[in-house]
Amino acid sequence: MDLLDKLEKEGTLSAGEFLSLYRMRNAIGREKLFARARRLRDTAYGRDVYLRALVECTSFCRCGCLYCGINASNRYAVRYRLSPDEVIDAAGRAYRAGFRTFVLQGGEDPVFVKDLSTIIRHLKDSFPDAAVTLSFGEWPEPLYAEWKEAGADRYLLRHETATAGHFARLHPAGQTLEHRLSCLQALRRLGYQTGAGFMVGSPFQSEEDVARDLAFLSSFRPEMAGIGPFIPHHDTVFASCGAGSVDDTLFILALIRIAMPNVLLPATTALATLSPTGTRDGILAGANVVMPNMTPAGEGRYELYDGKKRQDAGEAMRKEIEAAGCRMAMVRGDYRD
Ligand code: 5AD
Repeated sequence: MDLLDKLEKEGTLSAGEFLSLYRMRNAIGREKLFARARRLRDTAYGRDVYLRALVECTSFCRCGCLYCGINASNRYAVRYRLSPDEVIDAAGRAYRAGFRTFVLQGGEDPVFVKDLSTIIRHLKDSFPDAAVTLSFGEWPEPLYAEWKEAGADRYLLRHETATAGHFARLHPAGQTLEHRLSCLQALRRLGYQTGAGFMVGSPFQSEEDVARDLAFLSSFRPEMAGIGPFIPHHDTVFASCGAGSVDDTLFILALIRIAMPNVLLPATTALATLSPTGTRDGILAGANVVMPNMTPAGEGRYELYDGKKRQDAGEAMRKEIEAAGCRMAMVRGDYRD
């Protein structure tokens, strides 16, 4: 049977089969592939593209991820931390603009997370019909539990690469794939809608690595999947590495949609940064989420990679979504089974 048919029918393939499929990526007709991804997305969610208000809460980070511009050893990174009131104000503005999901994101900042439960509780009290998504990296399960208890609904934690040796080349000793995966398991156990994902074209990534990422995602079956191209940052050891390919990213988005018709799949900021039509093309390849940046301006830069675009929820965003034949949906947009 054709591998794409098998992927659609069974929702997964072996890593070897994903590898064959990935190696054929330039021979597979994109129009048909993307149309198939869109058809599956439309059956699951219709033509709604969900908007999430992204609030980048802190650029302090204790981690040393070698690819990331805000890693702890970058002395030149601009560091800022929003106060709880600033986070709540930003969420309030987003709510009034119509958003019904707040994504609070930040580095692994032990100072910021001290107030996180309070912030979550406040948001759930003030905006009970809005979802709260967290994205603050790896923390002990009891802390994840506390935030869940406070009312958080979802958690984004990319696995980055499902290959332990590759993970080790992208991170300092002490950060392991094993621990990352145990965090994902904990989040799932606690009842979060859980997001995993990886960068396309990260340094040292082989086609085999991508195949294992796809096999991992289609077996873990996260509710959300964050996939974007790697983009170098000038103050990191990967400064002179090439960026990931937009075309490969779009191909992978389509495969993920075919494997998991119900997954919430953003057209990421990194994709929009590398391509002026990235948002539209991502949606045309099967994405159904965008995350405009609602961080108050002037708070310093959350610069994970060079040239990071600020995606705003303005007319331009609406146009991109509509150019892809979809409509902006300012609703919670929970995962549907
Ligand atoms: N290029 C693209 N994505 C990056 N991320 C971090 N650094 C980069 C980069 N240089 C992604 C990682 C991380 C998320 C917050 O941002 O996948 O999980």
